[in-house]
Amino acid sequence: MSLLSARSIVCGCLLHLCFGLLSSQYCVPRKTVSYLNDLKLFREDGISHYSTMLIREDLGVLLLGAREAIYALDINNISNKKAEVNWRVTEEKQRECTYKGKSAEVECRNYIRTLHNINDTTVYVCGTNAFSPLCDYLTFANGELTLKKRLEEGKGKCPFDPFQRYSSLMVGNDLYSATSINFLGSEPVVLRSSNLALRTEFKSSWLSEPNFVYMDFVGESVDSPDGDDDKVYLFFSENAMEYDFYSKVVVSRVARVCKGDMGGQRTLQRKWTSFLKARLDCSFPKPSLPPIVQDVFLLKHKDWRKSVFYAVFTPQSGLSQMSAVCAYTVSSIRDLFNEGKFKTSVAVETSHVKWVMYTSEVPVPRPGACINNVARNLRINRSLELPDKTLQFIRDRPLMDEAVRPMTGAPLLLKKGALLTRIVVDSVSALDGKKYNVMFIGTENGFIQKAVNFDGEMFIIEEIQVHENPNPITTLRLSSSKGQLYAGSEFGVVQMPVSNCSRSESCEDCVLSRDPYCAWDSSSARCSSVSSLSPEAAIQSLKEGNVTLCPPPDPGAVVNFALVPGNTIQLPCQLHSNLACLHWRFSDQPVRSNNKYYIYSGGLLILNASESDAGLYACDSVEQINSRTYNRTVVVYHLRLSPDPEVAVSPTPGTTATKSSVQTLNPAVTVTVPGPEGEEPPLPENQSDTNRVSRLEVAVSLLTLLCLSLIGVLLWIWCRGHWKCFKLTKSSKSAEGRKHTQNRTSEIKLLGPESEKPCSANNNHCAIDFKGNGEYHFPPRANISSLSGLGYIHDESEI
Ligand SMILES: *[C@@H]1O[C@H](CO)[C@@H](O)[C@H](O)[C@H]1NC(C)=O
Ligand SMILES: *[C@@H]1O[C@H](CO)[C@@H](O)[C@H](O)[C@H]1NC(C)=O
Ligand SMILES: *[C@@H]1O[C@H](CO)[C@@H](O)[C@H](O)[C@H]1NC(C)=O
Ligand SMILES: *[C@@H]1O[C@H](CO)[C@@H](O)[C@H](O)[C@H]1NC(C)=O
Ligand SMILES: *[C@@H]1O[C@H](CO)[C@@H](O)[C@H](O)[C@H]1NC(C)=O
Ligand SMILES: *[C@@H]1O[C@H](CO)[C@@H](O)[C@H](O)[C@H]1NC(C)=O
Ligand SMILES: *[C@@H]1O[C@H](CO)[C@@H](O)[C@H](O)[C@H]1NC(C)=O
Ligand SMILES: *[C@@H]1O[C@H](CO)[C@@H](O)[C@H](O)[C@H]1NC(C)=O
Repeated sequence: MSLLSARSIVCGCLLHLCFGLLSSQYCVPRKTVSYLNDLKLFREDGISHYSTMLIREDLGVLLLGAREAIYALDINNISNKKAEVNWRVTEEKQRECTYKGKSAEVECRNYIRTLHNINDTTVYVCGTNAFSPLCDYLTFANGELTLKKRLEEGKGKCPFDPFQRYSSLMVGNDLYSATSINFLGSEPVVLRSSNLALRTEFKSSWLSEPNFVYMDFVGESVDSPDGDDDKVYLFFSENAMEYDFYSKVVVSRVARVCKGDMGGQRTLQRKWTSFLKARLDCSFPKPSLPPIVQDVFLLKHKDWRKSVFYAVFTPQSGLSQMSAVCAYTVSSIRDLFNEGKFKTSVAVETSHVKWVMYTSEVPVPRPGACINNVARNLRINRSLELPDKTLQFIRDRPLMDEAVRPMTGAPLLLKKGALLTRIVVDSVSALDGKKYNVMFIGTENGFIQKAVNFDGEMFIIEEIQVHENPNPITTLRLSSSKGQLYAGSEFGVVQMPVSNCSRSESCEDCVLSRDPYCAWDSSSARCSSVSSLSPEAAIQSLKEGNVTLCPPPDPGAVVNFALVPGNTIQLPCQLHSNLACLHWRFSDQPVRSNNKYYIYSGGLLILNASESDAGLYACDSVEQINSRTYNRTVVVYHLRLSPDPEVAVSPTPGTTATKSSVQTLNPAVTVTVPGPEGEEPPLPENQSDTNRVSRLEVAVSLLTLLCLSLIGVLLWIWCRGHWKCFKLTKSSKSAEGRKHTQNRTSEIKLLGPESEKPCSANNNHCAIDFKGNGEYHFPPRANISSLSGLGYIHDESEI
């Protein structure tokens, strides 16, 4: 029976919440803020794929590139459009594109993919232009956006395919781009478009079916004792060459080039002499195939050595709904490239090549190094003067032997549920004067997770639903100075403040939220932004979540409630935190769910109440913070027998409980559904519906049944959208995930194989330790090839 199954899911849900996952290593967001329609939104009819953003604080605008349109939006309120310009494909181009077999209405359009600053007035813009990329110059002046019609070839700067991942970066007047330079998308390059254009070799040892994710610049020449050069770092995933594996395995990489690279004279002419790459390590708790990098953010520090790359990873096999964030310091990546060992290929059989650590002598100057003091002492001032020996070495061995390890040796965040897609990080000054790095991570289903890592403890402050429909977040930008986030999806862009402290109404909730942006202001008795507070009168406890300093909570009036024998009574109790569990006490004895009591996440039902049920009911919220338990009484009800039930009270739970209304009920009416707090968003019921005392003249049993099934169904719906119940709803969730992944028109394409071969059906098949670099112990071949349908043999000699 459906009611029964719904009820069992509800019970399972609560059981999980309270006993299963709190102790596990995966993070539960403390709060869930569902879509509230109070965020500033920008979208226009007929326009889609709001995928490219450029923040221009100097001009007070957010430049937004979409399909065939570019907008200048007020940076303080993106709903306010200041200017727009359209850039459509010509009919001729569209026709050419359709002849080549692409769809006229989807692929043969102009998707704006590139927006880069050139100078104070001018922006460089590129679009896919019906599979024939094109670039132009754009100005924003006198409230108008103008395309200068100084068209330039976009091949290599911008992808042909509107949905292919790519990355680019403007450094001075040089455009660095990582994309495919052909129609088929099969010839990847890392390109610098400048007076002296450079690119990568067309060799699979350099790039093998890569997916480019992110690029950034690090000014390493500043204060460099060895006279080093500035660098451009690139993050991507590609087919592994280092694993001796009979099927395709994808790995995540970081690569870098030197800004001053000019290519070689004879060897590597017009090619990078400084292209080095290494594997990125981010270990998931269970042994698995290497995870795939989806997005990266560089948190810049005054001292570039302390700048940190934050990277989001998702699993390679489509089965596990788990993501991670790992962070890497610039200095650790730099050290690996500057001092690490190289990998080299050796032929083991006629057609088989293995990549192993290179142990012989390395030529001088060191292959792949920028021109530094060592080179200059050898009278080498430019890469053009590098000896052939150095250049040949690097041409054949661009891969480092070791992998880059994450900062703390482990992920900063692990999360089950909807996959993570994009990340930005803000460095926030808290009340204690220290800086905390707050991560904002977009998900596949339109949420933003706001998380911190307190000395190894993962903590998700809250998750906020920013898109009404579960669309993947494809672009995420942060304006730290404005305290605003901009999240783009296929269907629109939303603007969200980095914090909204007013969501916490009590001191306890404010402190337990452990949000570096927020503290309790004792003078105004409000949870307020730290930047607006004087430290003396404010309470914040980030690492401990210690509420001792909060004023003792107002015990709250005891709420009177009428008991009508034979009826079902609902006592609501709203929790402020997903990490908390409800505990009910009746006359100080714990209440358990049984055939009399029914505990659900929003309160307690007393079925078929009898006279003996009169008395005091207390709802305690018990929250685990940093392995300590925090217990507080949310509300106390006094159930009074009312043989002449003229009076029922609609209580408002919480510390400010007041008698809100007194209503006369028809004696036959049994279920009183009192109103919950107005401001509390996370709980699942349709609250506007329940926000009054029902006056229904329906038979007792019918109503009870209706109510129960309604609550059950609502909870079940809530559970489906809620990762906490992943065990119960895993299959439906991953099915949803796949739908997104394979949707061609969606901007985000999660990397990784499409095949859904059951890996976890027998996890032993996947139990390969990809940590470490030397020896790998692979399962027998038969098992491996069963992992992936693709019988791919990676073989350098094919090149
Ligand atoms: C943002 O701009 C829109 C459109 O101009 C306007 O309707 C809205 O009131 C503005 N919101 C705020 C908070 O200023
Ligand atoms: C900005 O760059 C554009 C394109 O290179 C150029 O035409 C313009 O003169 C530059 N403007 C300034 C103020 O430098
Ligand atoms: C390299 O530069 C130094 C000073 O910048 C100069 O003295 C030297 O002659 C140059 N060497 C070559 C080979 O150009
Ligand atoms: C903060 O949250 C409150 C309560 O949900 C809401 O009323 C308010 O509009 C929000 N403020 C901002 C700036 O979003
Ligand atoms: C909480 O803070 C109070 C007052 O500062 C202090 O006495 C107490 O030891 C703290 N408790 C914990 C568990 O840190
Ligand atoms: C409700 O309880 C009374 C006794 O307390 C019992 O006689 C009656 O059958 C119960 N009704 C239902 C619907 O369970
Ligand atoms: C919470 O506190 C109340 C009263 O202080 C106590 O009766 C109850 O047992 C506590 N609950 C838990 C789970 O510790
Ligand atoms: C809640 O109920 C109201 C009134 O029946 C309805 O208009 C609204 O769509 C419902 N909201 C949800 C989320 O179901």
